[in-house]
Amino acid sequence: MKEQTVMLAIETSCDETAAAVVVNGRKVLSNIIDSQIDIHTLYGGVVPEIASRKHMEKIVPVVDHALSTAGLTFSDLDAVAVTYGPGLVGALLVGVAYAKALAFASGLPLVGVHHIEGHISANYIENEELTPPFLCLVVSGGHTHLVNVVDYGKYEILGRTRDDAAGEAFDKVARAIGLGYPGGPKIEKAAKEGDPEAFHFPRPGFGEGCYDFSFSGLKSAVLNTLNEYKMKGTSFSQADVAASFQAAVTEVLVTHAMEAVEKTGAKKFAIAGGVASNGALRKAMEDACREKGIAFFHPSPILCTDNAAMIGAAGYYDFIAGKRAGMDLNAVPNLVLG
Ligand code: KG4
Ligand code: ZN
Repeated sequence: MKEQTVMLAIETSCDETAAAVVVNGRKVLSNIIDSQIDIHTLYGGVVPEIASRKHMEKIVPVVDHALSTAGLTFSDLDAVAVTYGPGLVGALLVGVAYAKALAFASGLPLVGVHHIEGHISANYIENEELTPPFLCLVVSGGHTHLVNVVDYGKYEILGRTRDDAAGEAFDKVARAIGLGYPGGPKIEKAAKEGDPEAFHFPRPGFGEGCYDFSFSGLKSAVLNTLNEYKMKGTSFSQADVAASFQAAVTEVLVTHAMEAVEKTGAKKFAIAGGVASNGALRKAMEDACREKGIAFFHPSPILCTDNAAMIGAAGYYDFIAGKRAGMDLNAVPNLVLG
């Protein structure tokens, strides 16, 4: 095998058309993200049909941009990686179809990547010293998973959400308090001006030894509080609700994560996914890991939310493990990890 693997990675699982060129899974030569957020904001959330159409418009220019930014052409590539699930089927299909066509036309090997594996692998990009095993909390708009990364490409799910994902709860609460879409960054901003102890929202859990999460009860508690205020005709502080909600989510995530660290004896802990770009969560995790005397890792905010560099990181380790996708690669909206 060549000393270095130059990989083109493609990600279209939700509302970002993204392409990146990554060398040996860790060195990012380009990372182009075309976000559709402005158009979906008009509808208060992602509209799947619009997402696929936008991916079709953008996939070719985004890939071209990734190559030109890296100063490369198709002939410099060694492999192509693409997210094939989980995600919106129509959105995933655009990336999968493009990657297959490119692999077929160029003869390049093709690797199908799990989106969550991508989020976890985002941690490899800026943390050269990070190698498995480690624990990783993946918190995004569609997923909340506490994962034992046993080795590259080998995962054990320790806990997952039983209802809403953490990011979904941020988005729903933001909408309820009038902050709009996307909720996560808006709640984080509003929370900076608020009192995290103004409201005591529940910290749901399932007892010792169970690392599952539940966020729909917490979301309902926020909605019920708001309704009570409205019925009484009293006003509430948006910032206080945001800060108190963020504090509750953070506490639940940190508590579960540190219980798992204790139980497994993990020496390294990482966070990943869109919600991992939340500064309050990052700080709380960092403090908790310091207290436990273990190393803490997190990607930069731009590598937390959906991007293709993380697919290039995960795809590289799949590639060197010999995993290859054929021309029958299909989008799998409910693809499981493990
Ligand atoms: O990983 P991601 O980009 O897409 C999925 O795979 O779902 O995550 C998007 C989610 C959204 O729910 C968004 O509100 C949340 O991540 N998010 C945040 C922040 N930035 C994005 N949540 C909390 N604080 C943030 N700063
Ligand atoms: Zn994602």
